[in-house]
Amino acid sequence: MKMWSGRFGQAQNPDFEQWQRSFPFDRALLPYEVAASKAHAAALAAAGVLSERELAATLSALDQIEGEGGPQDDDPTIEDVHHFVEKRLVELAGEVGYKLHTGRSRNEQIATDLRLYVREQIDAISQTLLEFLGEFVEQAEDAGQNAMPAYTHLQRAEPVLVAHWLLAYVEMFLRDLDRLADCRKRMNECPLGSGAVAGTILPLDREAVANELQFDSPTANSIDATSDRDFAIEFVQALSVVALHLSRWAEELVLFSTTEFGFVKLPEQFSTGSSAMPQKKNPDALELVRGKAGRVFANATELWIAVKGLPLAYNKDLQETQQPVFAAAGQVSSMLRVATGFLAVVSFDGERMQQAASGGFMNALALAALLVRRGVPFRQAHEQVGQAVRLGLEKSCALEQLSKQDYAQCGIAADAELFRALALEEVLAIHDVPGGTAPLRVRAALAAIKEKLSIYAGAAHAGT
Ligand code: ARG
Repeated sequence: MKMWSGRFGQAQNPDFEQWQRSFPFDRALLPYEVAASKAHAAALAAAGVLSERELAATLSALDQIEGEGGPQDDDPTIEDVHHFVEKRLVELAGEVGYKLHTGRSRNEQIATDLRLYVREQIDAISQTLLEFLGEFVEQAEDAGQNAMPAYTHLQRAEPVLVAHWLLAYVEMFLRDLDRLADCRKRMNECPLGSGAVAGTILPLDREAVANELQFDSPTANSIDATSDRDFAIEFVQALSVVALHLSRWAEELVLFSTTEFGFVKLPEQFSTGSSAMPQKKNPDALELVRGKAGRVFANATELWIAVKGLPLAYNKDLQETQQPVFAAAGQVSSMLRVATGFLAVVSFDGERMQQAASGGFMNALALAALLVRRGVPFRQAHEQVGQAVRLGLEKSCALEQLSKQDYAQCGIAADAELFRALALEEVLAIHDVPGGTAPLRVRAALAAIKEKLSIYAGAAHAGT
């Protein structure tokens, strides 16, 4: 039996009937639909609509429905997850099952179910993100004092600690964690009691229902609660940024794994071969992380488009907001799992990175800094060091290999201190500010990050 057939004299067009169904995908919401239904049943009993016995029968049938997990195959007679639960409830508990829909509407139910889904996904994805960050921390610790080139414009710019480079990603993903937590704060309100649009017709205890479902409070406006999906949009936007960061990370590792860079040794567990070229080991895991990021952005766009033209309040278009949310959550979870596994086993060629960190005139700025300390205005120092670089290029040698005479030609008085300043350790050490790559600063940053991660892990444990 349909949930709304009374006023209809004609059968639905069969194509339309099948096409408008959401059960093939909204069955993913079954656990939340059951939880919300239990909370509503308790509120109905408190309002005197269900007797104690009826409540007990309803709750135990709902438990069974959750345990069964829905039909094995799709059932074409079921319109959506709400319809399914009602139908199964009547099968299990009899006529009393028809009482559960008293004082509620599918409009508030779907708004509630989707929030519960998003909340659970935020918690799960945050947990996976934390594990991913744990691997960055381990790699940063393993990297010790190793250095590598930092690039701007993809040209060698300045040497940095490998740990400093790794921790750059940690900062990005920490902000992603924050974004998810922030989104959770705003979305954690309970629409139940909003009815179809104007608020329920029964004196239901909305506070109690919200409490039961671990929402912070009931929503404040029934029209808003049943019609906005900004929480889903925010969630998928936050996931888009996670995907964006994952994609940049993957791209950088793809690049670093080329023979030309040779910084990253691709783990075989996360690589594939070529069916044509026997020698190949390809970075498919990274490429797919990069490739799949685009799908998450597409999900975010789908959501914007689904909601942007809708007058208040509920419109069936909102049914189209479910799949992009499921897809984005599923995608980002699996991207993170693969990325975490990859990072746990990837190894870096520390020697090669260190070697690369020492070439390419990347100590030029450090030399200019020394001249500045000696009282030369920066612009002049820049010019003089630039001339020294030109000389080095002509002679195919590094700055530390130029002679005192060469330096004199550039107006620079070279002495032992100058040559010391050109050494990699010195070049790293002068970036001695919070956020800089001086080894002591990186050590402090690593300690701060570990502290932050343990706070996050504690919070996740406490379920907040
Ligand atoms: N399956 C619907 C959805 O996902 C449930 C709400 C239906 N409400 C309605 N008034 N037809 O949006």
